[in-house]
Amino acid sequence: MKDHLIIFDTTMRDGEQSPGASMTKEEKLRIARLLEKMRVDVIEAGFPAASNGDFEAVRAVAEIIKDSTVCGLSRANDKDIARAAEAIQPAKSGRIHTFIATSPIHMEKKLRMTPDQVLTDAVNAVRFARKFTDDVEFSPEDAGRSDVDFLCRVLEAVIKEGARTVNIPDTVGYTLPEQFGALIRTLRERIPNSDKAVWSVHCHNDLGLAVANSLAAVMNGARQVECTINGLGERAGNSSLEEIVMAVRTRRDVFPCDTRIDATQIVPASKLVSGITGFPVQPNKAIVGANAFAHEAGIHQDGVLKSRETYEIMRAEDVGWNANKLVLGKHSGRTAFKARLKELGIEVESDQAINAAFTRFKDLADKKHEIFDEDIHALMSGEAVAALSEHWKLVDMAQASGTAERPHARVVLAEGGAERRAESQGDGPVDATFKAIESVANSGAELMLYSVNAVTQGTESQGEVTVRLQKAGRIVNGVGADTDIVVASAKAYLSALNKLHSKVERINPQL
Ligand code: KIV
Ligand code: ZN
Repeated sequence: MKDHLIIFDTTMRDGEQSPGASMTKEEKLRIARLLEKMRVDVIEAGFPAASNGDFEAVRAVAEIIKDSTVCGLSRANDKDIARAAEAIQPAKSGRIHTFIATSPIHMEKKLRMTPDQVLTDAVNAVRFARKFTDDVEFSPEDAGRSDVDFLCRVLEAVIKEGARTVNIPDTVGYTLPEQFGALIRTLRERIPNSDKAVWSVHCHNDLGLAVANSLAAVMNGARQVECTINGLGERAGNSSLEEIVMAVRTRRDVFPCDTRIDATQIVPASKLVSGITGFPVQPNKAIVGANAFAHEAGIHQDGVLKSRETYEIMRAEDVGWNANKLVLGKHSGRTAFKARLKELGIEVESDQAINAAFTRFKDLADKKHEIFDEDIHALMSGEAVAALSEHWKLVDMAQASGTAERPHARVVLAEGGAERRAESQGDGPVDATFKAIESVANSGAELMLYSVNAVTQGTESQGEVTVRLQKAGRIVNGVGADTDIVVASAKAYLSALNKLHSKVERINPQL
């Protein structure tokens, strides 16, 4: 019998700390439902003390999720912990995750606390959290750069106080696999009560080593890995869930443990998270990149045709690549559309919202014969953003470009009840369109990122565009999809403007 490796997903907490990746409650609910379907053990749904919005989102996730533990993050103080406890209270199984930094640089420069004060706060935090639930996790932030003797003191004390999980974060992605594995082994060997807690790891990817470090820790006794879909997260991101799960599964000959994950949900989850956050997946990304299973070289193709194991160590269908069934077409009715939304875990609350979504579906089906699950997700992520706040609406647009003429765009936008028109030239049709929109919106926002991805295959595929805007220190990502990529670009730009307009603020828990 192999040990169970607990998969702790923090896409909705650490992942959400990526620039512009903040999610609405509805978006978090959709991701949570898919993570539950994927059989993730623990879902860290947010940081309840960070904002009322995040509190509501964690509580809503706690209300609906039954087969995964729902976790809320808190700093090591009573106020944060009480807020996290309140947010996870409806959960069938709820966890409080509390943290405080233990590295010399964080204690001295950030917290301005002595090691003894940090130790006291850590112990008090766990004691207080245990008043609300037995399932308490403690993290010594920046453990990768902390003094090992001090870590031993803190961790022994919090385990004594009742922390059931001790999580070792490499917060700045500084450690190397051999070193990080040895750290986990040392802590487990030196701390007298180490067998009373589950050892967990949380690695960041600044040196591209998050997955390697996490796996080295697993080899040395860690039995929980904290990770995110697509490796989303602060700076260079976290360990990617799909890589951890598939490494352990594919190399079951070397790992002493396995997960309970339904891997066929991996690709759908990757697409959902990418669509909601506006973080495209690079084509050569392991497991979930569009090219991850594509064989280009003739010698490889020949080998795979003769026997797929010659060049394939995993099967694309096992991670959900072929799960994108042909679902609906232009003759599909409202009932079939509603049923498919339900199967995809997309809840649309009002009849009015269903009607609007169905109209958009029909428009798409007119342009594109085959509608896949990815198309529906793309269609509905626009819907979710629209529900948040649609200050600006696209009424009409046209543009002209050619080799011999300067690109020119014309847009008609609705702001409140009023129609606003504008025209502009630009370096290309997208540039001209953005300039035309800006001449009406006057947002003053800075364009930080523009990227286009094909949602499915073929030239009739929808283009999915991400636009990242920054204004007064706030960063938002807008996503738009359409079979015409200039229209998709305009939708993405307006979606980002609407997010800026909605003033949904978030606080970064690590500040
Ligand atoms: O990276 C980190 O240290 C964290 C902690 C809050 C676990 O995200
Ligand atoms: Zn982190």
